[in-house]
Amino acid sequence: MTQDELKQQAALRALDYVIEGAVVGVGTGSTANFFIDGLAAFKDRIAGAVPSSEASARRLAAHGIRLLDLNDVTSLPVYIDGADEIDHSLAMIKGGGGAQTREKIVAAVADKFICICDASKRVTQLGRFPLPVEVIPMARAQVTRELTRLGGRPVVREGFVTDNGNLILDVHDLAISEPAALETTIDGIVGVVTSGLFAKRGADILLLATAQGVETFARA
Ligand code: A5P
Repeated sequence: MTQDELKQQAALRALDYVIEGAVVGVGTGSTANFFIDGLAAFKDRIAGAVPSSEASARRLAAHGIRLLDLNDVTSLPVYIDGADEIDHSLAMIKGGGGAQTREKIVAAVADKFICICDASKRVTQLGRFPLPVEVIPMARAQVTRELTRLGGRPVVREGFVTDNGNLILDVHDLAISEPAALETTIDGIVGVVTSGLFAKRGADILLLATAQGVETFARA
């Protein structure tokens, strides 16, 4: 089975968590795209979708799925999104697509975060995948110094601008032994908009697609 087939299996399993008549929070990336494509068949049975990026908004709209502004939503039972890495406590690195700020906002509103992944994303310790950090452009050099002080090696993602008009520093070589503490530290650096660490609000459920089928893990 290819990695894309595994991503699709996890994504389609997430449709079981969509609640009839409710709003769905929708993530960003290739796995989330498979979810959006699957959601199209249910579009008349949901109240609409809150996208976490312009790219996901375009894909949802192309399927005729009603888009909702997060500010107009009072209840969001589920948020469904992929991850670049996920550990056994269901803490994640996200932002490979540079959308982690909106992803973190939508996830914060949702009652449940359902993470959809192929088996390659599961790790025992986060950090092999460079940690994406969204940064206000004028703070680039200062934030780079601060991240270097933390032991990381920040690299500007060339030619990339986030949906919020900012840049991404991909931070290599971080030893992430305490993801929640590091998330607090990095998100507290002046000039950082959002790090791609999702530990304080990790996933509630992981749907992990393996060659043997989709396994379900719940946060302990
Ligand atoms: C987007 O910014 C990311 O957080 C994605 O959700 C994450 O990178 C997973 O992407 P794929 O599903 O494409 O692997």
